[in-house]
Amino acid sequence: MQNVLGSFGRSRARRYQPSGDRVTFADVAGIDEAKAELAEVVDFLRHPDKYRKLGGRIPHGVLLSGLPGTGKTLLARAVAGEADVPFFSMAASEFVEAIVGVGASRVRDLFTQAKEAAPAIVFIDELDAIGRSRTSGVAGFSGGNDEREQTLNQILTEMDGFDSSTSVIVIGATNRPDVLDQALLRPGRFDRRIAVQPPDRAGREAILKVHTRGVPLGPDVDLGRIAATTPGMVGADLANLVNEAALLAARRNHQVVDESDFTDALERIVLGAERQVMMSVEDRRRTAYHEAGHAIVGMLTEGADPVRKVSIIPRGVALGVTFAAPESDRFNYREPEVHAKINVALGGRAAEEVVFGETSTGAESDIQQLTEIARQMVGRWGMSSAIGPVAVIPRDGQGPFLPGAAEVSPHTQQLVDDEVRRIVDEAHDDVVALLRENRSKLDALATALLEHETLDEEDVYAAAGVERAAKPPADSYAAAAHTRVDG
Ligand SMILES: Nc1ncnc2c1ncn2[C@@H]1O[C@H](COP(=O)(O)OP(=O)(O)OP(=O)(O)O)[C@@H](O)[C@H]1O
Ligand SMILES: [Mg+2]
Repeated sequence: MQNVLGSFGRSRARRYQPSGDRVTFADVAGIDEAKAELAEVVDFLRHPDKYRKLGGRIPHGVLLSGLPGTGKTLLARAVAGEADVPFFSMAASEFVEAIVGVGASRVRDLFTQAKEAAPAIVFIDELDAIGRSRTSGVAGFSGGNDEREQTLNQILTEMDGFDSSTSVIVIGATNRPDVLDQALLRPGRFDRRIAVQPPDRAGREAILKVHTRGVPLGPDVDLGRIAATTPGMVGADLANLVNEAALLAARRNHQVVDESDFTDALERIVLGAERQVMMSVEDRRRTAYHEAGHAIVGMLTEGADPVRKVSIIPRGVALGVTFAAPESDRFNYREPEVHAKINVALGGRAAEEVVFGETSTGAESDIQQLTEIARQMVGRWGMSSAIGPVAVIPRDGQGPFLPGAAEVSPHTQQLVDDEVRRIVDEAHDDVVALLRENRSKLDALATALLEHETLDEEDVYAAAGVERAAKPPADSYAAAAHTRVDG
């Protein structure tokens, strides 16, 4: 029985004892740079005297930043496990409660506990929930609420209060390092910053190895191949993939998890689960032409990613899906490739126009996607000669104040809008012309889709009668659901 009022303000930090289900570096894979940097922190915690003797100042704060699911929380726990020290963890959002003062007192309490248990680790997850820059926000409004600010100030005070003999290391994690208050990043606070990058192909294979340790795998399972077909996936996605494959295998009464379980699990994750809906004959026909339009444009446009799969089985919110993915991880796209993405996105709607003489609501997400790409081309990537290489769209989280490229005049804004429109209009004309010229291919592919519902890479090209460009063998089923176009 807990006295609710009495425990008011008490830290709700969860304490992980070094024993128990201990996480170590062996559980973390594919992010070796971050691991190497943290190995140093582990050494500080294990042998603080070694460093103090030489007058070194032990770091107080380490900030892990990286996309969701890359393994930041896991890494922090692994540091505690490796160093064999208590681990106090708390999500910053838990600090922030409606009643002013509670957050700050929780922070005080958390640090008191940690100092008593030192050497120890304090882990503050989702640091950006309290550590957002106090000056950001729209001019004229006070930045954020008092509670957040008091909590943040208390963290800063606690960290400043560490003397050289305090063996408490604060690890913070965020996926928005760009919005953090500068005060948090000053020397003596979170002055070590470690970027946790999404894993590359070898890294993905290593992560799959970790997560299949306790999973009986069929002899046909090739983790290297799965890694090759999952560009863009991070640790959490891969852990999920292994789990889905295992569940699928169980449902199918398999004795081991085999290749087909992985392939189907991946398809489910990437394309969404199939959905039972009644579609009218007319809707099916329209969907078939819509998807065939994406695919034909994808196959016939220079610089477009190869088409891997086309399906008119409804999944998630989509009636159909055309799935294209590059041969390997992409970090950078050339201008023609970006144009190709816009063209492919327009292909579905354009096919409806060409075939039915009218469009439907089915193109909504395509339109969103291609408009966004066109805006980035003009406003961030300098791919419009009218604007030139000037950043006029603020990056996410920087609000209206973009350092160095601040205010955008109404004139420039108009120019951006005009350029976006021009790019999309030109692409639209090209795509409609392309589909008119290749109407027979479009018809053939749509017919094949109506018959088979789902076509794999080879069958798509065969049905449309398009020669596949010579490509490296195998690895054909790639699963980059979100071939990212940013940065
Ligand atoms: N590098 C990795 N190696 C092994 N497993 C990983 C890795 N990254 C993530 N995972 C798996 O995904 C799960 C979730 O990862 P984690 O919570 O550490 O991500 P995160 O970076 O903290 O994400 P968020 O920003 O959403 O909090 C882990 O518990 C683990 O199972
Ligand atoms: Mg996390």
